[in-house]
Amino acid sequence: MKIAELPVPEQAKEILNKMGLTELFPPQEDTIRAGVLDGRNMVLASPTASGKTLIAELCALKHVLEKNGKVIYLTPLRALASEKFEEFGKYTPIRKQDGRRVNVGISTGDFDTADNWLERYDIIVTTNEKADSLLRHRAKWMDEVSLVVADEVHLLNEAERGPTLEIVLARLLQVNPDIQVLALSATISNVDEIAGWLNAKYVVTEWRPVSLKEGVLLHDEIQFKDGDAKKIERKTRYPTINLVLNTLKTGGQALVFASTRKNSVSAAKTIAQHTGEVLSKPMKRTLEHEAEKILSAGERTQISDTLAELVRCGAAFHHAGLSGAHRRLIEDSFKEGKIKVLTATPTLAFGVNLPARTVIIQDYRRYEPGYGNYPISVLEYKQMAGRAGRPKYDKVGESILIAKTSDEADYLMEGYVLAKPERIWSRLAVEKIIRGHVLATVASDFAHSENGIYEFFGKTFFAYQYDVKAIRSIIAKILKYLYEEEMIDISGDNIYATKFGKRVSELYIDPLSAVVIRASLRNKPALVTDFGLLHLISHTPDMGPVMRPYAREVDALALALEEHRDQLFTDVPNEWDDHISYEEFLGEIKTALVMNSWIEEVSEEQLIERFNVQPGDLYRTIENAKWLLHATDELARLFGEKEVLPLTGELVERVSKGIKKELLPLVRLEGVGRVRGRIMYDAGYRTIEDLKRASVEELTNLRLVGPSLAKKIKGQVGGFVKKETWERLDKEEEFEQRALSDF
Ligand SMILES: Nc1ncnc2c1ncn2[C@@H]1O[C@H](COP(=O)(O)OP(=O)(O)OP(=O)(O)O)[C@@H](O)[C@H]1O
Ligand SMILES: [Mg+2]
Repeated sequence: MKIAELPVPEQAKEILNKMGLTELFPPQEDTIRAGVLDGRNMVLASPTASGKTLIAELCALKHVLEKNGKVIYLTPLRALASEKFEEFGKYTPIRKQDGRRVNVGISTGDFDTADNWLERYDIIVTTNEKADSLLRHRAKWMDEVSLVVADEVHLLNEAERGPTLEIVLARLLQVNPDIQVLALSATISNVDEIAGWLNAKYVVTEWRPVSLKEGVLLHDEIQFKDGDAKKIERKTRYPTINLVLNTLKTGGQALVFASTRKNSVSAAKTIAQHTGEVLSKPMKRTLEHEAEKILSAGERTQISDTLAELVRCGAAFHHAGLSGAHRRLIEDSFKEGKIKVLTATPTLAFGVNLPARTVIIQDYRRYEPGYGNYPISVLEYKQMAGRAGRPKYDKVGESILIAKTSDEADYLMEGYVLAKPERIWSRLAVEKIIRGHVLATVASDFAHSENGIYEFFGKTFFAYQYDVKAIRSIIAKILKYLYEEEMIDISGDNIYATKFGKRVSELYIDPLSAVVIRASLRNKPALVTDFGLLHLISHTPDMGPVMRPYAREVDALALALEEHRDQLFTDVPNEWDDHISYEEFLGEIKTALVMNSWIEEVSEEQLIERFNVQPGDLYRTIENAKWLLHATDELARLFGEKEVLPLTGELVERVSKGIKKELLPLVRLEGVGRVRGRIMYDAGYRTIEDLKRASVEELTNLRLVGPSLAKKIKGQVGGFVKKETWERLDKEEEFEQRALSDF
């Protein structure tokens, strides 16, 4: 079927045509024949790289251009959200019926906001969590959504995050029963069930545009699924490296999946020792430039040094311990064919289009806390394998598991290569997981009686697969808890949220965290300090897994605990009676110390060294701390806790920038972060007034302040600048290479 013949807006077809897309892939044809463009709900289960996104694109344009509709595109990962946002970007030149251009937006950030600005957008790419929080705020435009795309819908099966997707879909269907649902996945075996739940038709295909040869490498021979075999030159004693070198020699790129962050780093290091011979001189120069970019993105740390060193050799690692900026640089550089080999944890397993001719799965086991080393699911294996052989980049793809013995090789062939992905199960019925959702159901006016609540939960995938009765008792227990904690109130058959409950729901925190915060605010320590507040938020379940104290840190942490005891908002568990809780508590103290050092302007390098944390974890803790401090600030406001308010308000800003109080006015300027703010402050520019009086020359004389930043600062603070100076700055700005990130 030709794209030109499709019943979709002409302008969309022109754009696709210009990109060289003329024919539909067979799965796309099947889905269109099944009625997806006529508004049918649809589950499309089709292999990786079979072009599922294009169906979502065509459907989205149909809604926006012909039905005056609005589209929300749900993804599980931020990296995938940005890739999809870029893909939809190609349609922005198209004009709608009202003459305006198609507007595509992305929203993955802050949870406590209704983001009314999103109203202007026609297509909104977002994460499931963000969509959930928007629904809690009853963002008005949510009622106008006419198409929801649930990408990677197999996520339903994931214990932590699956329930959010389930709730979001059920709510959207409740708010707008006419909404069209399009669910996509390469790895679902019980398609009929998911389709049954969503009242959808389904299309299942086995077609892939680029053939993907799956196999198992034992010593120096690959056995493929189709019976083929291939010998790999044994250049080193590591099979993974031999396989990588083999791929590079033929001009391909390789993606290696490792089971832990540490393994991904060590694999990249070993590989980098061997890549030199395949890199041309010009490529080496290009990589030198890429390495410089890595070093200038954010503060310099040992991790950025290591990464830059590897990038010079055409290799890199990618895991959640890296900063977002580094991850993006690496993804782009790999996509542009500069970095040749990428080692990654499963952070890159889902949905992304990468130029990996060969995917190597080094380890099929992963450490699961509480279970030990545990084999990964077939579903996850298939997703990782599916990153190889993407039509945009390669004509063939290979995905190889590594076996050490022939027994293991047989097991891998049977258990993964030839196996089907597992059935998808709802993970909803867990108290800890649905506590917040039950509250939100009441607080955001989705239901106002016990029966109404059961009715809503009766529309979830859980109720479809099991029976709503199975969660009734959990819901009843949660309602009792919420009532006792004064988040909901009951009159007759009516259940409604109190002010407290409503705010908690909007703040997107676990009701349990809110209870901890409220109790602490009512029971303030003698001394209210930054440290005490930082510990309080580290004590809430929303802070996530607290930083684990290493054995050698325990004494120092215990000492720090004693030093700060009179500032703590919570009781300290007894070391002898309850050793486990005590150790956990020391972990909270550690988190608070890390945050406290961060706002005392300790450098990232020192933080990493002193506390043994990785940048990614540091940033995640900062993000969580910001959000929980904001929640504490809001709850303190609600309860009239005037004493803590000045501190909490300031802490939100200080944690977000990592600064002492004195830098607050400076870092409020765009382009100024903790490092540059400190340089300016120490040079005597302490207030906006100081900066107003400073000449442009004086500012550019400061370290790390170039002409474009000087111009940006002057533009914000005002003050006299000669016309010639502006013109000179304009010119210089063009030549300025330095990245203007906020640091
Ligand atoms: N009809 C087509 N003709 C040529 N290329 C296409 C066509 N449809 C899609 N593609 C290209 O195929 C690639 C893979 O598509 P897409 O990312 O949608 O795969 P997917 O099915 O979502 O895979 P995954 O399950 O891994 O997410 C993209 O680069 C896309 O541009
Ligand atoms: Mg996809």
